[in-house]
Amino acid sequence: MEMTFAMIKPNGVKSGLVGKIIERYEDAGLAVCALKMHQMTSADARGFYAEHVEKPFFGELEEYMTKGPSVMLALGGENAIAKVRAINGATNPAKAEPGTLRYDFAPSMTENVVHSSDSPASAEREIAFWFKKEDTYSYEGPGRKACTVMGK
Ligand code: CMP
Repeated sequence: MEMTFAMIKPNGVKSGLVGKIIERYEDAGLAVCALKMHQMTSADARGFYAEHVEKPFFGELEEYMTKGPSVMLALGGENAIAKVRAINGATNPAKAEPGTLRYDFAPSMTENVVHSSDSPASAEREIAFWFKKEDTYSYEGPGRKACTVMGK
């Protein structure tokens, strides 16, 4: 059992893909353990993407991420981190495999539709960045789904 953080970025929300994207995660046996909609402020973007603030693409990333709401998700299940990364596909949509969300829906590297944690440490940090403990739920459903409480 593992937890991960996933985000449906502003163009995913604007294109009406929220249901389709969550369906792919749930169909892979993952459980939604926390969920909220939030439009990032510049301060949010600078905090969440702290490792990218000095990169040349940060300005474009910040503009895109603050121009509309995103959907924040904590997901739980077996191998949740690897499963969500596989469902999302490569960061650069031009390199994403057919059948992945980024291959299917992402027009560019910046507007790459979804985000997910790349390690247990980043999952913990990212879940705690967006969620308080009381916003995440612990439950088990039919099959492989399982959540634990995480957050700050
Ligand atoms: P993600 O991995 O979800 O979080 C960081 C984001 O920065 C990444 O998605 C891309 O949207 C963006 N990004 C990363 N590298 C580049 C790059 N070289 N050029 C433009 N955008 C990038």
